[in-house]
Amino acid sequence: MAYKDLRAFLRRLEDKNLLHRVKAEVDPILEVSEITDRICKSPGGGKALFFEKIRGSMYPVVTNIFGSFERMSLALEISGLDDVAHRIEDLLNQAPPKTLVEKLSMLPKLFEFSKYLTRTVKSAPCQEVIERNAPDLGKFPILKCWPSDGQPSDEGRFITFPMVFTKDPETGRPNCGMYRIHVYDKKTTGMHWHIHKDGARHFDKYRALGRRMPVAVAVGSDPAVIYAATAPLPEAVDEMLFAGFLRREPVEMVKCVTSDIEVPANSELVIEGYVDPTESRIEGPFGDHTGFYSAADYYPVFHVTCITHKRDMVYPATIVGKPPMEDCYMGKATERIFLPLMKLDFPEIKDINLPMEGVFHNACLISIRKSYPGHAKKVLHGLWGKGQMMFSKLLIIVDEDVDVQNISYTAWRVLNNVDWKRDVIIAEGPLDDLDHAASFPRYGAKMGIDATRKSREEGMTREWPQELFMSDDIKKRVDARWKEFGF
Ligand SMILES: Cc1cc2nc3c(=O)[nH]c(=O)nc-3n(C[C@H](O)[C@H](O)[C@H](O)COP(=O)(O)O)c2cc1C
Repeated sequence: MAYKDLRAFLRRLEDKNLLHRVKAEVDPILEVSEITDRICKSPGGGKALFFEKIRGSMYPVVTNIFGSFERMSLALEISGLDDVAHRIEDLLNQAPPKTLVEKLSMLPKLFEFSKYLTRTVKSAPCQEVIERNAPDLGKFPILKCWPSDGQPSDEGRFITFPMVFTKDPETGRPNCGMYRIHVYDKKTTGMHWHIHKDGARHFDKYRALGRRMPVAVAVGSDPAVIYAATAPLPEAVDEMLFAGFLRREPVEMVKCVTSDIEVPANSELVIEGYVDPTESRIEGPFGDHTGFYSAADYYPVFHVTCITHKRDMVYPATIVGKPPMEDCYMGKATERIFLPLMKLDFPEIKDINLPMEGVFHNACLISIRKSYPGHAKKVLHGLWGKGQMMFSKLLIIVDEDVDVQNISYTAWRVLNNVDWKRDVIIAEGPLDDLDHAASFPRYGAKMGIDATRKSREEGMTREWPQELFMSDDIKKRVDARWKEFGF
């Protein structure tokens, strides 16, 4: 059964001895961050942390809830991250039915997605407390994560696990994306949707219509819902439908008190408000996923009109910084879950690896079944044109016999197999907002390396050498006598 809410997941973690309670008082300004950073860098990602007493707030904070492969799998109620991919593959790889019996047996699968459509409820735990007259973000244990976060005019507090809900003003289609929230004061924050993201698309439409944009920021829900806010889904796919698919139960939504936006009914905290498309303000700097501060820049401003929450709310936060941190495990889940969808466009792809050190937009290793000259280059260009893969600053393509999960072996193959003039493509295009190395914000160079075996048509004038392998009969002979050699 799906987790009822965040607390049900925390109970599960506690039952499995995967959650540590910190009973001593901790300062939300930098102290929670330092403790979390130490724990999430301990072997295997440490434990989730429940800070019971936060200085200056009556609400507890949890961090590092997704910060290991085990916790990420528990969050999605699967035994390994490939399980979701297998469910998706199963849905996608259905041969057309031939007989009536086959057709009938397919029906449940065809309805698989529709049974996870969101359900709207009238009353919700997230509206147990409604603060409409004087909403005050200062009451919540919002963290300052790194010393230079924020502006001198504020405390540098950021909501780091926000699910930002918006609606397309033309189609009414909802979107949910995780975009950090820089708190300026009691009722005003930044709205850090990068210009390439779906929230920004909705914003563009409101700006063109000259209308205020209603926005709701939900914090804390069951873990599939939180994860879904980070998933790189196409604009047309509702993240809450995807969350329903992940948790195998529809997400219950409730209408906000002051707008038509719907938020998960089991949220811990909901901040309702609006963005005025004519207004912008400096947002950041913020210690980011890359391990560097992302630069301060102008972003839209979010005005809070109402705050609702559970009476005994728990405030979840994530600390991002030098990898490995919690977001790396969420990224690894995305790598596994989205592989079958990537294969729809690129059936030649066998596997991919987004190494944690590359913080997801900086590097991707890809193995392909190469069938023709230039095949790897076709995949390189194709991937740069696909959704959030456009941010990949380095794509490395190898043959299918390379296990890209083995980074050492892959590096050895790449370093041996590349002619840097023939096999490297430097292209220009949009870059992730967080890239600080390019000469211009959000625009610059990306590199593709074709490290597959080369044919004559690709300019290779010599025979490709054989890789070293010992013959099987010798291996067997040595195996049989192994003890004789004194090992
Ligand atoms: C912890 C965390 C924080 C994030 N912060 C931001 C952010 O501030 N701005 C942003 O545009 N994307 C951010 N992202 C990435 C987006 O959540 C991700 O690209 C998502 O797919 C966007 O949703 P969308 O496609 O509906 O726009 C963050 C991801 C994580 C895991």
